[in-house]
Amino acid sequence: MAVEGNSVALPQFLKKIELIKQGAEARVYRGSFLGKPTIVKERFPKLYRHPLLDEKLTHRRTVQEVRSILRCRKAGISAPVVYFVDYTSHCIFLEDIVGSITVRDHIAFTQLSSAQKIPEERLDQLAKKMGQILAKMHDEDVVHGDLTTSNMLLKAGTESGETELVLIDFGLSYISALPEDKGVDMYVLEKAFLSTHPNTEALFEKLLKAYAASSKKSHAVIKKLDEVRLRGRKRSMVG
Ligand SMILES: Nc1ncnc2c1ncn2[C@@H]1O[C@H](COP(=O)(O)OP(=O)(O)O)[C@@H](O)[C@H]1O
Ligand SMILES: [Mg+2]
Repeated sequence: MAVEGNSVALPQFLKKIELIKQGAEARVYRGSFLGKPTIVKERFPKLYRHPLLDEKLTHRRTVQEVRSILRCRKAGISAPVVYFVDYTSHCIFLEDIVGSITVRDHIAFTQLSSAQKIPEERLDQLAKKMGQILAKMHDEDVVHGDLTTSNMLLKAGTESGETELVLIDFGLSYISALPEDKGVDMYVLEKAFLSTHPNTEALFEKLLKAYAASSKKSHAVIKKLDEVRLRGRKRSMVG
């Protein structure tokens, strides 16, 4: 079925494709668009919010998501191709990274099977790649805003056998050159990483090491990260 530029065709189209995730902010679908495997992310209205405010926030997130994906792709950072955007229904049509799994699932599976002594280096390589791609993203002044291991996909390599890291879910992203903003971005990731994946402190350190080695601007960011960590600790002591 074709999607036309009117408000009737799109809801009908969404009914015919597979819903893969119902979140608090968005529904994610998988289907085919112009013959291509496609992910549709639909930001639906939140009824608990004032309609005008909700419309404004939802519109902003859709714009930010598309803008940051394009900025990353322009800089050679892997993110899905944007096929189509509808600002009426707040739908983004994205390239489906076929055969990918989230970094979260990959780490969890690897940790589970490490009873059979899976080579540690497999996760080391991944941590290094994550550090490198995030340094590159921050060098473009893209602050992701929601860095977690669920918002990164691993795509099995094409010919080389190399796996590719793909960044997704840029709805909370923004453009900033401030080391503080980038430091908070890394702090959010650190919190999410260590709470999702037990006993990965050393692994996360490797990620940070690769981040630091990949960007000339990283020194100020790591310094801010240290400050934010300290603030977090003080806050938790106060309770
Ligand atoms: N382009 C894509 N290709 C393949 N899977 C995707 C893609 N985009 C999202 N997904 C899958 O859908 C999930 C939710 O998408 P995401 O953009 O993170 O939305 P949310 O804001 O609900 O977290 C991801 O964790 C991933 O499993
Ligand atoms: Mg997500």
